[in-house]
Amino acid sequence: MKEVNLVLLGYGRVGRAFLELLHEKRGDCRERYGIDFRLAAVYRREGGVVPGTGFYPESKIGAGWGTAMEYPRLLREIMPGTVIQCIVSDPESGQPGLGMMQAALEAGWHIAAADKGPLVAGPGVLEEAARRKNLKLKISGASAAALPALDVAVRSLAGATILRIEGILNGTTNLILTSMGEGMDYTAALRDAQRRGIAESDPSRDVTGMDTAFKLLLICNAACGTELSFSDIEIQGIDGLPPDLAEQAKKSGKALKLFGRMTRAEGAIRLEVAPAAVGPEHPLFAVRGTEKGVTFTTDTMGDITVIGGRSSPRGAAAALLKDIIDIHKAD
Ligand SMILES: NC(=O)c1ccc[n+]([C@@H]2O[C@H](COP(=O)([O-])OP(=O)(O)OC[C@H]3O[C@@H](n4cnc5c(N)ncnc54)[C@H](OP(=O)(O)O)[C@@H]3O)[C@@H](O)[C@H]2O)c1
Repeated sequence: MKEVNLVLLGYGRVGRAFLELLHEKRGDCRERYGIDFRLAAVYRREGGVVPGTGFYPESKIGAGWGTAMEYPRLLREIMPGTVIQCIVSDPESGQPGLGMMQAALEAGWHIAAADKGPLVAGPGVLEEAARRKNLKLKISGASAAALPALDVAVRSLAGATILRIEGILNGTTNLILTSMGEGMDYTAALRDAQRRGIAESDPSRDVTGMDTAFKLLLICNAACGTELSFSDIEIQGIDGLPPDLAEQAKKSGKALKLFGRMTRAEGAIRLEVAPAAVGPEHPLFAVRGTEKGVTFTTDTMGDITVIGGRSSPRGAAAALLKDIIDIHKAD
């Protein structure tokens, strides 16, 4: 049995969901993959806790925050495994996640990240640090979470040139547009998504198209080997659309979607986020509600479409679990 230490950064919605999932799946990971994941410490803003020798269910973590060894020291003093990064970082500076991820790589830890901020802020920086140390930096949780967009692009399309990427990458905006197609106005559709716990109380990153742009950037850079930046993306969100656009689209047999697109023209790559109405012939027409989907157009394998994936903290947690199994399982 291979024992693997895990350090969890962030104890919010995704961090908690990850811990619950790990608690649920720990036995399975032992049996199926021969890996015994050990939770070495959990950190939040106010400090860390060490769960003890057993594997603590979520309800038992909480008392004694601040008593764990200081994060950089813990990284140096215990056998490196994987740092699970579930904090919220600023996409411009990448902090606080960037510094914490750099410290982890420096100390020999692999990383599985749900936080887009550090990856968007410095394209290639963490990837290069991981390469230098021969460590893995896995970002499924940050790129489209439960939709296995990156796995398909990087692994299943290896050797092919990706000519175009077109994705519905944000479940919240897709749900809002689906509701608007059924006649709800924007404000009511947003409130409904918030009431159902899908849209955040501050939905601005979703509705302005920024979240879609972050994911498109991460998928494009990983899949196409580029080091493009956030400033390279033209972005139009769904806030401020003409009120009846989605309903009109539906009446003419189409569906309004928010797309993240990568296209190539004369050797140059173009990235954009914008709404568009598509008909039933489009491979992503049937992606409704909180579902996501992506189509890769390739030079050798044709068009490959992946649809589905839960848009929730549990879906993000499942993507993190997949990544840590992938990092540590024997080939
Ligand atoms: N929610 C989703 O469905 C989803 C899906 C995919 C990806 N993501 C990404 O996953 C990340 C986490 O999302 P979330 O929804 O779980 O956010 P959240 O509920 O706001 O939780 C964020 C956590 O980060 C902790 N934190 C902030 N700064 C820290 C620092 N310097 N050191 C240690 N911990 C720190 C916070 O600490 P305190 O507890 O002390 O405040 C909190 O526990 C985000 O980057 C998000 O974009 C979220």
